[in-house]
This record gives sequence, structure tokens and C-alpha cells, in this order.
Amino acid sequence: MTTSPVSRDGHSSATPIPMDAASLESILCTEELYRRQSRPPDYERENNALGELANALADSPRTILQTLAETILAVCESDSAGISLLSTEGGGKSFYWPAIAGQWKPHIGGGTPRDFGPCGDVLDRNTTLMFRHVERRYTYFQPVTPAIEECLLVPFYVDGRAVGTIWSIAHDKRHKFDAEDERLMKSLGKFASSAYQMLASLDALKFQIAERGRADAELRTLVNSLELQLQIRTEEVIKQNADSLKQTERFRSISYRLMQVQDDERRRIARELHDSAGQILVALGLNLAAIGLHARQILPQVVIVAEDGQRLVQQLSQEIRTMSYLLHPPLLSETGLPETLRWYVQGLKDRSGLDISLNIPEGFGRLSPEMELVIFRLVQECLTNVHRHSGSKSAAIRIAREAGRVSLEVQDEGKGIPPEKLREIQSQGTGVGIGGMRERIRQLDGHMRIQSSGSGTKISVNFLDPASQPANPERRLATSG
Ligand SMILES: Nc1ncnc2c1ncn2[C@@H]1O[C@H](COP(=O)(O)OP(=O)(O)OP(=O)(O)O)[C@@H](O)[C@H]1O
Ligand SMILES: [Mg+2]
Repeated sequence: MTTSPVSRDGHSSATPIPMDAASLESILCTEELYRRQSRPPDYERENNALGELANALADSPRTILQTLAETILAVCESDSAGISLLSTEGGGKSFYWPAIAGQWKPHIGGGTPRDFGPCGDVLDRNTTLMFRHVERRYTYFQPVTPAIEECLLVPFYVDGRAVGTIWSIAHDKRHKFDAEDERLMKSLGKFASSAYQMLASLDALKFQIAERGRADAELRTLVNSLELQLQIRTEEVIKQNADSLKQTERFRSISYRLMQVQDDERRRIARELHDSAGQILVALGLNLAAIGLHARQILPQVVIVAEDGQRLVQQLSQEIRTMSYLLHPPLLSETGLPETLRWYVQGLKDRSGLDISLNIPEGFGRLSPEMELVIFRLVQECLTNVHRHSGSKSAAIRIAREAGRVSLEVQDEGKGIPPEKLREIQSQGTGVGIGGMRERIRQLDGHMRIQSSGSGTKISVNFLDPASQPANPERRLATSG
């Protein structure tokens, strides 16, 4: 399976770039990483991975980089993973691979030139980069098997300076990295690098002790204190991670509770508006009509004022009715989702001028009240976003119910979500709108995918169809999103 690894000086910086080498931009696909749907963070798994790293550090500190490579391979479910470090020999002109896990493991000890290779690109730009088919530019990769389909590289810092990279490779087209892989690689890399740094200082001290043939008390104390610091730091990281896991869970349950409170409050205000303010307006309207009738002979001017008042009351009634229905559409529980969405879409078309198409099959039927409300709120938020942010003149909504799934798609032809916003959203950054959508979807074990580019945005959501589920109240616990 293996060929010889890339030789460290396989391409010296003095060698001219091959004529047929593809351009750097043509093999870079980093933007795609943030456009892809990202799997939700699995903090528990991350915490376990950190725990493993910390244990490895306690048991056999020399293998921390190899353990890091193996951990990255496991959490990213990639085909190969490894570390590149700038070689200290020869003035740092090349990278070497001290640790590799997975299919490329036999290439341990190989490396790439500093000035013409993917690791060099990462250091030059000091940021995450994703490449596909690196061999099209860096032709020295051509004989290396298995070939790289896609690889993700993040900088590896020591003392705040990037001195190498951590990488993860997919040899198979079907594997695609997403923003969560980057987050995990950075988080694990950060811990490993601080451990690595302390180990390097320890090594240097021990070397000194072994050289000058005796250890004076001061040096020994320093070694002991460094070892102690390393241990303390390891314990700190594990504790911090466990705390942030708890915080995340707390935050989730609070935000879900807030949304429930918001829904209840909207329902209450909707009822108040409709029942009390609405009824008072009806009475006021009748009074105004009566004044008009009685004053007709004696005070003609009063009639004009009364009629004007009546018109205002009618207008206000209509507005309060619309506001109340938007806050919580009574149609939803009475007639179900299709009818409510038709009413909502028509109203929004009239108010906004957006050309909205709604595709929902005849005989769609009823879902659980919870799911009907969630889908209604999702459509409401998506369309509000299209109207407020996209610049699109149209929006298309498709809702279907097939193969045991309920699916929703809202698509526009606008300018797309700005890349940095999308990156934040994909990495589960918390916002009220899309963040709230995500939380509602999570509560129903659903799944959301956001695709956005310069030609528009498509939000796709799907849930297990409650009708295809056995009537089991534990269902939520047994399925995954
Ligand atoms: N369809 C879209 N087209 C273009 N940009 C969008 C679209 N939907 C969302 N965005 C971008 O994503 C960002 C986040 O959307 P989100 O709904 O979470 O928040 P918001 O709309 O800004 O505020 P709110 O909390 O009131 O919903 C928006 O600010 C906007 O920049
Ligand atoms: Mg919004």
C-alpha cells in the first residue's frame, strides 16, 4: 500500500516551481469548509478525547504528538492524521512528520519543503486551510499513496508562534470535513501544544543536567516545578472542559425554556389582544355608529367625526387581528399547518411585495401540535430573514412528508449569508433567529442544513414523521438528530 514517504528535501526551495503545477488557489477549498453543514459539537466526546490526551501525557509524555494524531483521527473520523513540525536542522527549510496515525502511518519521518508545500502555505497565512488534490500543485505528492482527496490543516503553535501544522486527510471522496473538524483540531491542538512546550523545556533542562554531570539543587527544583505545572495544567484543562460541557447543557436548557415561555407569552398576548382589546374596539365601533345615527339631524359635523372615528376603529381592529394572528395563529390548532401557512404567506406577500411560492401537497394531514408550531415558526423566521437580509425578490417554500420524514425547505435567490456570519452560524454561534431555530429543531430531534452562496440561501430541515413512529413517549431519547 505504501510508497516511500515524501523526502524532506524532495523539493528544495531553490528548485523552480514545475511549469505544469496548478495554482495555489485552484487546490484551496477552505471556504467550502464553512459552507458545509456542520455536525453539532459533541462536547462529551471532546472531553473524553482531552482526557485520553491527558492520560497519555501522564503515562508516556514522549508520545504526546502520536496520541494527538490518533485522537484527531478518531474524532474527525478521517483516514489519516498527523503533525508537521519545522525542522530545526538546516535553518528550518523543511517540515518533518514526527507523528502520523491511520493509513499514512508508514510515512512517519517524511516531510515537505518549507517554501513549497501545504504546511508552508498554512504558516504563511497563519490560518486554517483546506486543500483538495494537493498533488496537482505539489507534484512530489504524486507517488505517495493512498492519495489525498481532501486535507484540512490548522497551525500548531508553540510559545504563540506557529511552528507546524496539525492535519487530517480524507483519502476517500465520500468523506468531507466540516467546521466542527476544525474546531476539534484547534481545541485538541491547543492543549497538546502547551503540553509539548513544557515537555520541551523539561527536556532542555534534563539535557543540561546530563551535560554539566551533576544536578544542582536549583535545577532539580526547576525540573520538579515544571513537572508539577504540567500536571496542574492537565488537570485544569480537564476541569475547564467538564465545566464548559455543563455550561453548554445549562445554556441549552435555558434557551429552550425561554422559547417555551416566549411561545406561551405570545399565545397569551394574542388572546388578550383578540379578546379584550378586540372586544372593546367592537363596542367602541357600535357606540360611534349610534352617535352618528342620533346626531344626524341636530349636529351634522359630529356625524363626520363619528364616521371617521368608526373607520379608524375598523382599521385598528383589523391590525390588532393580524397582530394577534401573527403572534399565535389560532388557525394552526384549528385547521393545521397548510391552511395557516397559506394565510401567513398571503399576508406577507401583501405586506412585503415578496413573490413567495408555497408547495405543500394535498392531503398533507396533521402533525403533532408541537411540530406544527415549530414548522410554522421556522417558516416565519426564514421568510423574515429573506425579507430583511437577502435582497431576494422571491422565496420558495417546499414542505413534504415522505419515507417516514417531514421535510421543509426555504430557498431564496438573494446575495447569500456573508461568509464570516455563515462560519459563525455553522459553528453553532448563538444568535436569536437561526440559533432559536436550531434549538427548536434539536428539541424535536430534527436536522438542519444551511447552504448559502452568492446566488442565494437554502435552509433544509427534516424530522422523523410522528405518524411513522410507534406511539412511544420515549422516542426523543432513542433517536438522534
Ligand atoms: N436568507 C438570508 N440571506 C442573506 N443573509 C441571511 C439570510 N438569513 C440570515 N442571514 C444572515 O445571517 C444573520 C443571522 O440571522 P439570524 O436570523 O440568526 O439573526 P438576525 O436576523 O440578524 O436577527 P434576529 O435575531 O432578529 O433573527 C443575519 O444577520 C444575516 O446577516
Ligand atoms: Mg432573523
